[in-house]
Amino acid sequence: MYNFDFYNPTRIFFGKDRLDTIDKFVPVDAKVLITFGGGSAKKSGLIDKVKANLGNRRVVEFGGIEPNPRYETLMKAAGIVINENIDFILAVGGGSVIDGTKFISLASHYQGNATDLLKQGFRPITSEVVKKVVPFGTVLTLPATGSEMNNGAVISYEHGKFPVMSELAFPQFSILDPTVTFSLPRIQVANGIVDTFVHTTEQYITFPVDAKVQDRMAEGILQTLIEVGATTVAEPENYDARANLVWSATMALNGIIAVGVPQDWATHMIGHELTALFGIDHGQTLAIVYPSVLEVMRGQKRAKLLQYAERVWHITLGSDDEKIDLAIRKTREFFESLGIKTRISEYGVAADKIPVIVEQLKAHGLTALSETGNITLEVSQKILENAF
Ligand code: NZQ
Ligand code: ZN
Repeated sequence: MYNFDFYNPTRIFFGKDRLDTIDKFVPVDAKVLITFGGGSAKKSGLIDKVKANLGNRRVVEFGGIEPNPRYETLMKAAGIVINENIDFILAVGGGSVIDGTKFISLASHYQGNATDLLKQGFRPITSEVVKKVVPFGTVLTLPATGSEMNNGAVISYEHGKFPVMSELAFPQFSILDPTVTFSLPRIQVANGIVDTFVHTTEQYITFPVDAKVQDRMAEGILQTLIEVGATTVAEPENYDARANLVWSATMALNGIIAVGVPQDWATHMIGHELTALFGIDHGQTLAIVYPSVLEVMRGQKRAKLLQYAERVWHITLGSDDEKIDLAIRKTREFFESLGIKTRISEYGVAADKIPVIVEQLKAHGLTALSETGNITLEVSQKILENAF
């Protein structure tokens, strides 16, 4: 196991009817900006409930944060934070609204050009760069990204998606009420399952470092998703299945299974280009890219792929190669069983677009991906060709 530091200050309030915690954890004298997306939280009445729980606090609303939140939209909200003297933000939504709120928090008081904040990649933004942030909490409406308990955001700008990381960007608290997610369309639930699955494997199917706790926690999350996935897609109001999905999604990307282990993230980086170029949902891009990454990188990932086959899918018969083949097939079939297509051609993207995707990877400096940095542009091209 590698040396590691671990820090996560986000309070979690999990379960039914937890909105009353807003009153306890938003300062009484705060002027609050409520951020939300395209309207689902308005329609469901959630915003009204949130406002009721804010009592007499002064409230300003900012709606319209789009999926894959855009820099320009977020800068409008940052302007409101300054003009209205906002001192607390409450994000009500999925990963896009929460990520967008993290960026609003970082950008509002930033003295330079806020596009600077998009240029650091995975290098964290420190308090020397951003001297003041606006504290924020979240009410999660979509289990997928883990953004409710981590310090990352992904922001769309021009033709790219840019990771933004900062210890200043942890939510102060997040309310995780599974019943709030009952209104999700089937496809978003399926996307969330795939996103959670691939977050887990990005930190697990790499190479062994004898991190037994992290491995078994990752295997626990994957097995939970396999166990509840079909049920929670088919029965949106099955509380127990949905509760297990919600907590899996948070646990997959709150930093706990990441400690002391190598991490991959190639699938996410290639997937981000597919979203930026073709507007394919984040979860769907992962379902396209991940089975192909496993095929192409099976040599490097061999030991962990075998462990995955045996412990997650309980594959005990056959040669090592047969076990790996079956595990990759079962992974693809699992995504497809949720209603997510796993071939890029099924999303209307023609093979002649591969060079364009590779060009974008190059433009964004993504030329040495994976846990060892050996996914060059040539290897990414092979992964994409294999995903058709
Ligand atoms: O905008 P509204 O009207 O709210 O509708 C949303 C949106 O259309 C809808 N929705 C959300 N909750 C709902 C609901 N509809 C009905 N009932 C509800 N309860 O769902 C649609 C998708 O929402 P979005 O927030 O975009 O989805 P998701 O949570 O999957 O977030 C995706 C974004 O997160 C980034 C992705 O790149 C993408 O931009 N990621 C963030 C990460 C992080 N911060 O750690 C890691 C991830 O790997 C990911 O990259
Ligand atoms: Zn993801």
